[in-house]
Amino acid sequence: MKSVTNIADLRGLARRRVPRAFFDYADSGSYEEETLRANRADLQKLKLRQRVLVDVSKRSLATTIAGQPSALPFALAPIGFTGMQHGNGEILAAEAAHAAGIPYTLSTMSICSIEQVAEATGRPFWFQLYVIRDREFTKDILSRARAAKCDTLVLTVDLQLLGQRHRDVKNGMTVPPELRIKNIIDIGTKPAWLWSILNAKSWTFGNLAGHVKGMEKINQLAQWTNQQFDPALNWKDVEWIKSIWPGKLIIKGILDADDARTAVKLGADAIVVSNHGGRQLDGAPSSISMLPGIADAVGNDIEVLFDGGIRTGADILRALALGAHACLIGRAYVYGLGALGGPGVAKAIDILRKELDIAMALTGTNSIAEIGPHLIVEQK
Ligand SMILES: Cc1cc2nc3c(=O)[nH]c(=O)nc-3n(C[C@H](O)[C@H](O)[C@H](O)COP(=O)(O)O)c2cc1C
Repeated sequence: MKSVTNIADLRGLARRRVPRAFFDYADSGSYEEETLRANRADLQKLKLRQRVLVDVSKRSLATTIAGQPSALPFALAPIGFTGMQHGNGEILAAEAAHAAGIPYTLSTMSICSIEQVAEATGRPFWFQLYVIRDREFTKDILSRARAAKCDTLVLTVDLQLLGQRHRDVKNGMTVPPELRIKNIIDIGTKPAWLWSILNAKSWTFGNLAGHVKGMEKINQLAQWTNQQFDPALNWKDVEWIKSIWPGKLIIKGILDADDARTAVKLGADAIVVSNHGGRQLDGAPSSISMLPGIADAVGNDIEVLFDGGIRTGADILRALALGAHACLIGRAYVYGLGALGGPGVAKAIDILRKELDIAMALTGTNSIAEIGPHLIVEQK
């Protein structure tokens, strides 16, 4: 673990330890991956302003996210099939997040179910919802989330249809993986991964299994999921969700100022400026390039969260400087999980924490509230 000094190291380890179909699933973006690359490239273009001789001996990274105290200005993003990067992945990630004092978001498409995560961690977490055609299922899963003490709902709105990831098609990426000869040989060379999966609480879509009538087999479930994307989904559905969800509501997947204003009108508590990590509309601009315009459009009417391309603490500082209240971390922790299981997620969080802390110090910043556009060097 000593030789792991940054998120890129965790990615390298994950690449060696996780079967290719699942590593590629996490790593890739849709179509030509233009948006995936833009997310990183546009963050790196932002140059931080080096300041000296400011007393930075009393720094704090603590803040609030969606009204709750958080030790750090980031939360773990919802990630489908987390439990296929490492057995019990959702539980391990939730535990690492809780230990670090930050929120964890469980995806609808998780491997461990809401109930398994709640039972294993004994702490509240955020739940991410995909609204699907079967609205009864949606109602039911929301009551399950409430019963599990989830107080915050992250409603993802940028996946009415699925953007294609070429690598997933080529790899036969399914849950469980398609049994092609090359997949079997690949899994045979990943014994630590296999051991963790064999010892896991769940091997299927934990939130769906047993809750969809007539869909007891994994293959049937996968087919059912594909038919459940709802192209008719619209803002009225968001109103409906708001009317049946008593907790906090975060709308995730906003990349346009008009959509952000509509989210404010509907009374959401926060939005996440996001292009789904470059996995949906390829050719969409990077999240960071759209952040300042959206933050301006909504002002203080709603909390603006951000994700897309964060791999360093300096990236978090950049996003906060351009108007994000806090960030969601996606692949950065998924690589940690694939690399080293639970300790890998803790390591990813710790790397980002330390890097952010030093970047704050070297820009003369003591607290999250002090971060603003003045930390970015104006470019002509
Ligand atoms: C492997 C993977 C699975 C994802 N699954 C979900 C999901 O189930 N629900 C969701 O709202 N977003 C999902 N996302 C998007 C993330 O929540 C987040 O928006 C994105 O990862 C941020 O970009 P980053 O990975 O560059 O940090 C997924 C992203 C990845 C990489």
